[in-house]
Amino acid sequence: MRIDIITVLPELLRSPFEASILKRAQDKGLVSVHIHNLRDFTDDSYKQVDDYQFGGGAGMVLMIEPIDRCISKLKAERDYDEVIYMTPDGATLDQKTANSLSLLKNIIILCGHYKGVDQRVRDSLITREISIGDYVLSGGELGAAVLADTIIRLLPGVLNDETSALTDTFQDNLLAPPVYTRPRDYKGLEVPPVLLSGNFPEIEKWREEKAMERTKEKRPDLLK
Ligand code: ADE
Repeated sequence: MRIDIITVLPELLRSPFEASILKRAQDKGLVSVHIHNLRDFTDDSYKQVDDYQFGGGAGMVLMIEPIDRCISKLKAERDYDEVIYMTPDGATLDQKTANSLSLLKNIIILCGHYKGVDQRVRDSLITREISIGDYVLSGGELGAAVLADTIIRLLPGVLNDETSALTDTFQDNLLAPPVYTRPRDYKGLEVPPVLLSGNFPEIEKWREEKAMERTKEKRPDLLK
């Protein structure tokens, strides 16, 4: 899979892809992430990519030309399945969306900034708009990092234990059950005995019960 991210703040986006699972996935060749600085796509001597909005009002708006140039250059090089715009008024990201996006080959993610982008970008260049939640970030970069992370960890071979994404919270509309590790007894706080029993059918049953209990308690909306 290939992910191209377009931003005015490339430095804000680099570090998440330079550590841990996201770095390993790239090193293994399972995904390539390319970060493009929107300012590289303007002829303006001040590298200006935003301007005041027509009609007046506070806040700068990202202009269509540099965005069009960047997206057109990428599209001339390969086909893209989706051109996603990160915006608080997009469809809220959930596990189902991440699962379906992880099946795609090439995607572009455009990060909004300031007051957003010229509406003509959204009308003519964007195929999908995604929000990471009902709150406003100072730009789409952190949202793009969240989106890319949820997608990349689902790619086959990225997680060491291939089945482990399948047992994630949300994968079957249930929260994941509690997990424990050494020591068995920490200052009187004990690990549930069933997990030490070696009886795997019993352990599986316990985990299913706990997943259901936890979902009922914390996220009953998932069960509807
Ligand atoms: N840009 C600003 N707020 C955002 C949000 N909640 N999700 C995605 N992109 C954003």
